[in-house]
Amino acid sequence: MMNEQLTFALSKGRIYKDTLPLLEAAGIIPSEDPDKSRKLIISTNHAHIRLLIVRATDAPTYVAHGAADIGISGKDVLMEAPTDNLYELLDLNIAKCKLMVAGPAEPKPVGHRLKIATKYLKSAEAYYAQKGEQVDLVKLYGSMEIAPLIDLADYIVDLVDTGNTLKANGLVPMEHIADISSRLIVNEHAYKTKYAQINEIVEKIKSAVV
Ligand code: ATP
Ligand code: PRP
Ligand code: MG
Repeated sequence: MMNEQLTFALSKGRIYKDTLPLLEAAGIIPSEDPDKSRKLIISTNHAHIRLLIVRATDAPTYVAHGAADIGISGKDVLMEAPTDNLYELLDLNIAKCKLMVAGPAEPKPVGHRLKIATKYLKSAEAYYAQKGEQVDLVKLYGSMEIAPLIDLADYIVDLVDTGNTLKANGLVPMEHIADISSRLIVNEHAYKTKYAQINEIVEKIKSAVV
């Protein structure tokens, strides 16, 4: 049987480097380095397999819509995204970090409802709801650590790995919300119609996960 076209959604940035050995285990070698090329659709050593280089936050969208058959996405992103039409098949154990509440080492007394700055609205909302705490959420897209320093918010909900970013901004980790790592995601429809092809890749990637 002819191999059908397979499209893989990846993001550059910190996941890409850790993704390469997993792709290689599946016999997939990109024909260009996305950090050097401006190209966003990259061919591979297989004529029927191509890579889309997307924003990390967009990977589930490409896969959910079937614009990509397979993708790699952080669990933090998946927890915010609508996950209809996709399966999360593997924990790849890469880009590991924690979603946490962080704030000033010596918090000021708060005379109002807590204000939380985050790009993770859905996760933060669920976390405080489960604690039975009513909070006001402020949506930011990055550099969340600034918010408590200039009274935009009392605390932040953000990713923490080494803790260096918090430390450099005089903040401390306070509450653990979730362990985060990257996941292999697959479009539900493609998983049925291209099962043999996709499963072969999934199995090879699975055996390369450390
Ligand atoms: P963009 O820069 O496109 O807005 P982004 O900040 O989510 O997106 P990256 O920084 O490359 O892009 O992060 C991609 C994924 O890597 C995140 O979704 C998360 O799962 C994980 N990640 C982010 N920051 C860290 C970190 N400091 N340590 C380990 N893993 C991280
Ligand atoms: C991520 C995250 C934290 C930092 C945590 O930011 O949002 O700021 O890493 O890592 P650390 O605990 O090891 O310091 P990133 O560097 O991806 O910047 P971004 O805001 O552009 O996503
Ligand atoms: Mg980032």
